Amino acid sequence: MSTKSFVFDVPVEGHYQTQWQAPSNIALVKYWGKHGQQLPLNPSISFTLSQCVTQTAVNFSPRGGEEEAFDFLFDQKKQVEFHPKIQQFLERIKPFFPALEGYHLSISSHNSFPHSSGIASSAAAMAALALCVVDFEKQFHPDWSREDFLQKASFLARLGSGSAARSITGPLMVWGQSEAFPKSNDHFAIAPDVEWHPIFQDYQDTVLIVDKGKKKVSSTLGHGLMQGHPFAAQRFEQAHSHLEKLKSALTTGDLEHFIDLTEAEALTLHAMMMTSNPRFVLMQPNTLAILHKVVDYRSQTNRPLCFTLDAGANVHLLYPRQDRSPIMDFIQKELLIHCQQGQYIQDQVGNGSKKI
Ligand code: DP6
Repeated sequence: MSTKSFVFDVPVEGHYQTQWQAPSNIALVKYWGKHGQQLPLNPSISFTLSQCVTQTAVNFSPRGGEEEAFDFLFDQKKQVEFHPKIQQFLERIKPFFPALEGYHLSISSHNSFPHSSGIASSAAAMAALALCVVDFEKQFHPDWSREDFLQKASFLARLGSGSAARSITGPLMVWGQSEAFPKSNDHFAIAPDVEWHPIFQDYQDTVLIVDKGKKKVSSTLGHGLMQGHPFAAQRFEQAHSHLEKLKSALTTGDLEHFIDLTEAEALTLHAMMMTSNPRFVLMQPNTLAILHKVVDYRSQTNRPLCFTLDAGANVHLLYPRQDRSPIMDFIQKELLIHCQQGQYIQDQVGNGSKKI
């Protein structure tokens, strides 16, 4: 695919102010491994969430000679630790919007979930920032459809963080070329034109906070582990096949297959990390205790509770809305003892970003 259509090389002028909210997402088939400029080595699919969101306001003003490219406030405070990621994002999007160089961006962000919860917030944060930039650009494209707007937003968000490409709409987003989804591609994520089974419209995600600490493996290092990994080829092939099978489970509402594929993906992600060079064990004893209890609970009660994991120790528990009451009882009685200070976040599938 040519990325030429994403270049907007026209002088722009004037001030502009906008504010967007973007959600976090949880991958079912995991993106793990990238190449080139933030291109995935395998396709992924995620649930868009609704409660874990980043709200970002950007004020674009013509930039004076010596002025910095941006300033950044997180929760009204200066946070220089985020500067390199924002700087890198602005550098990467420059070829696609050269006129932005002439602007100073005053960026102010807030997360609905604790920044130190160990929940990766880069997807929501980069998606919200990309949406603000595309909203600025949109003024100069009166012909843009909603689809054009969302595509460009996902395209730019991807340059900030791969998984951010999937934080634009919902309820399910596919990123990376897959035979199972005709319009899918590596450059931006799509919300496939598929009728998902209604059970997934408000699927629940209870995030158990096992470790609130900073990520032990940065995403750049993590994805790099797939270069030369002894099982890389098989893993990428497996991701394609998992995605195809998951599509079928997600349309028919076949929870048995949904659970089987989702948990296989989570454990494969960790298996890849445990067998790379260098290798990492990111699960902790409490992570394993939770996984065992979830599997036992499912076999004893037949309730469709399953887990997935990101590149860390925290556990995402996925289940239908209709089973929420007994499952929450179980979580409260049996699982919160394995969480840091008993902490968890209650979320559910949502429909994506919005202008605020
Ligand atoms: C394990 O999107 O954080 O959560 O592109 O380097 O920013 P970068 O990586 P990032 O990787 C997410 C990896 C994952 C799986 C997933 O969300 O698909």
